[in-house]
Amino acid sequence: MMDKASRLKVALQKSGRLTDNSLDLLVRCGLKYSRGKDQLLCYGENMPLDLLLVRDDDIPDLVQQDVCDLGIVGLNVIEEKRLAFQARGIAPLFEQLQVLDFGKCRLSIAVPDGAKYDGPASLRGKRIATTYPNILARYLRENDVTAEIVTLSGAVEIAPRLGRADFICDLVSTGSTLLANHLREAEMIMESRAAIISTPVAVSAEKQAWIQRLRMRIDGVQQVKE
Ligand code: PRP
Ligand code: ZN
Ligand code: MG
Repeated sequence: MMDKASRLKVALQKSGRLTDNSLDLLVRCGLKYSRGKDQLLCYGENMPLDLLLVRDDDIPDLVQQDVCDLGIVGLNVIEEKRLAFQARGIAPLFEQLQVLDFGKCRLSIAVPDGAKYDGPASLRGKRIATTYPNILARYLRENDVTAEIVTLSGAVEIAPRLGRADFICDLVSTGSTLLANHLREAEMIMESRAAIISTPVAVSAEKQAWIQRLRMRIDGVQQVKE
């Protein structure tokens, strides 16, 4: 039996668009796991690997702080964190290892059903609610638009109805969230999909070997699906 420190810790989204596909990928890589009572930890039964189920937005921090060795998270969250660290003058230390073939979505500006939208100029002077303030700020800068960014930690799609914002900037996958909230996609800002990130801290040779093994199995699984 291996000691705790030699087990890989992998951070996954607890509940959301990436959860099922992330678990499925690891199962296809041969992992058998059991879920802990608190539902926050899954224990690998046939590999020295445990899963930590957390909010997707927390995954880059957990990996950067070396709480987890690996994380599976959207490029949207990775990019937002990178820009946030950059703005604070901190080097984003987590490393992007591999882009995956699931979690495809786009970060888009969406407007209320009846609202007029004729390109980025329509954003001028408006309030835009988002959980991605850094990516949105860069987009506005690049398009020479001054607008007010309303940073929210969730439920962005109801901000226009609550009168907190004119538009939103959020992820669109199937489009059902927008539809349910009487919003329409007006402008795509970035495309995204899931990716694997790893800790900047050197890990033991044993752990490194398992990371390599896992990466090769992931390559194999993804090729089969293509
Ligand atoms: C995103 C987004 C919407 C939903 C859109 O949430 O914030 O809620 O997905 O998908 P749809 O177009 O298929 O309806 P995500 O799963 O990233 O979780 P979070 O907002 O809780 O971080
Ligand atoms: Zn999130
Ligand atoms: Mg959401």
